[in-house]
Amino acid sequence: MTTRTSTVITHIGTLVTNDGDAAGGSPGDPLGVVEDAAVVIEGDRVVWVGAAGKEPATDARYDAGGRALLPGFVDSHSHLVFAGDRTQEFHARMSGRPYSAGGIRTTVAATRAATDAELSANVARYLGEALRQGTTTLETKSGYGLTTHDEARSLRIAGEHTDEVTYLGAHVVAPEFADDPAAYVELVTGEMLDACAPHARWIDVFCERGAFDGDQARAVLSAGAARGLIPRVHANQLSHGPGVRLAVELDAASADHCTHLTDADVDALASAPATVATLLPGAEFSTRAVYPDARRLLDAGATVALSTDCNPGSSFTSSMAFCVAVAVRDMGMTPDEAVYAATYGGARALRRTDIGRISPGARADLHLLDAPSHVHLAYRPGVPLTAAVWRGGLLLDGQAAAQP
Ligand code: NIG
Ligand code: FE
Repeated sequence: MTTRTSTVITHIGTLVTNDGDAAGGSPGDPLGVVEDAAVVIEGDRVVWVGAAGKEPATDARYDAGGRALLPGFVDSHSHLVFAGDRTQEFHARMSGRPYSAGGIRTTVAATRAATDAELSANVARYLGEALRQGTTTLETKSGYGLTTHDEARSLRIAGEHTDEVTYLGAHVVAPEFADDPAAYVELVTGEMLDACAPHARWIDVFCERGAFDGDQARAVLSAGAARGLIPRVHANQLSHGPGVRLAVELDAASADHCTHLTDADVDALASAPATVATLLPGAEFSTRAVYPDARRLLDAGATVALSTDCNPGSSFTSSMAFCVAVAVRDMGMTPDEAVYAATYGGARALRRTDIGRISPGARADLHLLDAPSHVHLAYRPGVPLTAAVWRGGLLLDGQAAAQP
């Protein structure tokens, strides 16, 4: 018989549950904030949430010292299987050169030349970096291999580190196929898909001028769906286009970026709550572009997530807190909306109900801030506020000292 240790985290100043029905929460508050709260975890699960002092007896106790406890961030969009970096490209861009998708090929060359061990170490490094900043679930993609061998090994390596793995063979047309994009789409939907499908849960395509048009994107996503992969789409990042409406048409889990939207795109997202508009402000920050209008999407009734898009080209940040701060400052989100989008919004984009909230039965993924409230994520931008992180009930190594 195994013994599961139970721990109460008590004296929580502000608890964000993302559970509108949370005991002690205010009716109608989707964030389900409870003041002066306690949470009991047992094994890898949350088993009790309520007022401090009312909790059942437990084996251990952790005093949160009046600070804020949130669900771990759910980062539903990243590109961590890569080698090399693109510092020079960033430097040139900040000196006035515009961003184009062409830089992806630089990372493709470096990634192909890297060993499995180098790629795996890179994924582990950035995943660890994210975890130390409160991210307890992270999706990541292939897309810097663009050969059958390199895409399949990228996915296999990603799968050693996370369950949420996305096949992005259709990131850009591989350089060898520059004169024959149709043949590349055939590869991505044929032999490459055969090799990649067993290693992935999702399929993605960069639907954009200079990458794949609407018809090509539909062919890629439909082929993946026929193999059991669920679509997600890089949509409307650099220009208006068919990506968002295609995502809705194919019941994709997310339309990511959503920077350039027509009213019809917004209406389509509003009418399709299962297709989450995933906003990636790190990309606009790092390409010095106009931010997506989160307010417009929220007011229309769309489901919104925030994510980092962590990649070496257009958004080299693993910080969800940074994304929250930018979304509040420049995208019209309230602090509550941004925190919700970065936690339960991400869970929705990954079609998960076991993460992104703190309620009985959820995985014990918890983020203690060195601040009294979640609002400080936007109020104190750039400040490392993570005091402690539990993932699946385990307190991250090296963070016990954070206990007051
Ligand atoms: O999400 N948009 C396409 N893919 C990445 C960019 C990757 C790169 O520039 O290397 C993105 O922004
Ligand atoms: Fe991306």
